Amino acid sequence: MRQPLIAGNWKMNGSKADSTDLLNGIKAGVADIVRSEVAVCPPFPYLYLTEQLLAGTLIRYGAQDVSREPGGAFTGQVSASMLKDFGCTYAIVGHSERRLFNGETNATVARKFAEALSTGLVPILCVGETLEEREQGKTEEVVASHLDAVIEHCGVDGLGRGVIAYEPVWAIGTGVTATPEQAQDVHAFLRQRIAAKSGDVASAIRILYGGSMKPSNAEELIRKPDIDGGLIGGAALKAADFLAICRAGDAATA
Ligand code: 13P
Repeated sequence: MRQPLIAGNWKMNGSKADSTDLLNGIKAGVADIVRSEVAVCPPFPYLYLTEQLLAGTLIRYGAQDVSREPGGAFTGQVSASMLKDFGCTYAIVGHSERRLFNGETNATVARKFAEALSTGLVPILCVGETLEEREQGKTEEVVASHLDAVIEHCGVDGLGRGVIAYEPVWAIGTGVTATPEQAQDVHAFLRQRIAAKSGDVASAIRILYGGSMKPSNAEELIRKPDIDGGLIGGAALKAADFLAICRAGDAATA
């Protein structure tokens, strides 16, 4: 069975004081979480603090983005090797907010995925359609294009060294969650598409759901056969809610 992963994407929120409280709150409550893997993705400036506070715990952490370049004259960017240097396990790539607000294309995202892999980071590839695309019946076409760009660039085995997060854009930060059935349909579609290239990768890769996941809907979502955890935005900013989702991950796989 795939181990559920519950990862918090803090986005551009918080301060040093908030991050300290949140990390300490999560640390204080994880002892009873036995099946789910727990991870947080704070903003870059708080990664050092995260490394210090999470030392000696099983809680993993990562970044919300990574440069597609290994290093050099790229003002403002952060390389995969720097993230490794701060003890990161994960790097989110291709979040819809970066595709939308930073103009990231499938080609850019695929290079970021490859760059993360090359340093031993585990990329979390975000895929997902907008409301307009869903209404036009283009959901599968859109998520396939997000997925295929990485498979073409990194190979299916490369993809298999990462994690996928299905995040319908219309469900992010809106309070509107995909129904477990809607999410499961897309997760199953993604897994079948990977299976056409490699059955082994398809059965092993974790596909998380993201988009208004919260304590009240997490267990039902994660109970679906192809949903292997969550990438949590708003609800990851409160230790109690985030921990409740981690417990839902445990309950769903008990
Ligand atoms: P919300 O949980 O706030 O909807 O955000 C989801 C998300 O974008 C996680 O990456």
